[in-house]
Amino acid sequence: MDRMRRLRMNGILRDMVRENHVRVDELIYPVFVAEGENICRPVESMPGICQYSLDRLPEELDRTVDAGVRAVLLFGIPAHKDETGSAAYDGNGIIPQAVRMIRERYEDLLVMADVCLCEYTSHGHCGLVREGEILNDETLPLLAAAAVAYARAGADVIAPSDMMDGRVAAIRTALDREGFIHTPILSYAAKFASGYYGPFRDAAQSAPGFGDRRTYQMDPANGREALREVEQDLAEGADMIIAKPALAYLDVMREIVNHYNVPVVAYNVSGEYAMVKAAAANGWIDERRIVMENLLGFKRAGARMIITYHALEAAAWLQEERR
Ligand code: PBG
Ligand code: ZN
Repeated sequence: MDRMRRLRMNGILRDMVRENHVRVDELIYPVFVAEGENICRPVESMPGICQYSLDRLPEELDRTVDAGVRAVLLFGIPAHKDETGSAAYDGNGIIPQAVRMIRERYEDLLVMADVCLCEYTSHGHCGLVREGEILNDETLPLLAAAAVAYARAGADVIAPSDMMDGRVAAIRTALDREGFIHTPILSYAAKFASGYYGPFRDAAQSAPGFGDRRTYQMDPANGREALREVEQDLAEGADMIIAKPALAYLDVMREIVNHYNVPVVAYNVSGEYAMVKAAAANGWIDERRIVMENLLGFKRAGARMIITYHALEAAAWLQEERR
């Protein structure tokens, strides 16, 4: 009889036949940087996550580096929002300032910069708005300007999350024109219009003031369409692809991985984090076990890297496992 249990009887053997692993090098930690001073503002729906002003940011970055996490994804929260999201592409805006500070003080930290308008617009949409319509082509130069401003400040990777058509091409052209030919684009290609972004919108104060994001983010029902999004972004010059949210869309991640030979990144989003934290706080689940199981699930689905708010905790747990 073929007995599957033979290879499960011994711990060393189980370790040896294990197909997938989570490594600390694959983790990317999202960080919220707020304009202002002496800010360390907890995000209520995301226990353990705070917004930091520039002067307090090093506390969190020290923890990041100490945990062994080597990459951060920056989100900016400006002091003033306006119709066109001008703080997003201001060369002295919060993200360029944060990137310059990190470049000076943290040699070994990889800095990824999210590019979008929604944290910076008064209406909270990811693009320009005219008479209730979210404009596509008019938005592209602003996204490109933001990407150039962040690259100029020293960002290692540009990550556009707006879901406007043609934005990867616009950003690639602008980066190349300004001499940033080696700055990679990590594109949120398969990004679904999801209820799982709720806590993030508290954290970034970026909920749309009217309507929703369904005219630009993808319909949760459409898996095959995600492949077209990815195909387009790769054709336009994306170097890596994000699939997002992660848990409810593992099939989409696997499909992308099977079709395209580029690194695919899982974004374990805010709502996924909040659910785990809430259940754990109630004593209903074993947090460590659930988090590691989720991260492993992303790897099994083919993810090369994982963006997660659990990064620092996961890194500590991985370290413990190694001892
Ligand atoms: C901004 C952006 C969002 C997320 C990443 N970049 C929110 C949104 O599109 O509404 C979601 C991240 C998360 O929920 O953790 N475009
Ligand atoms: Zn946005």
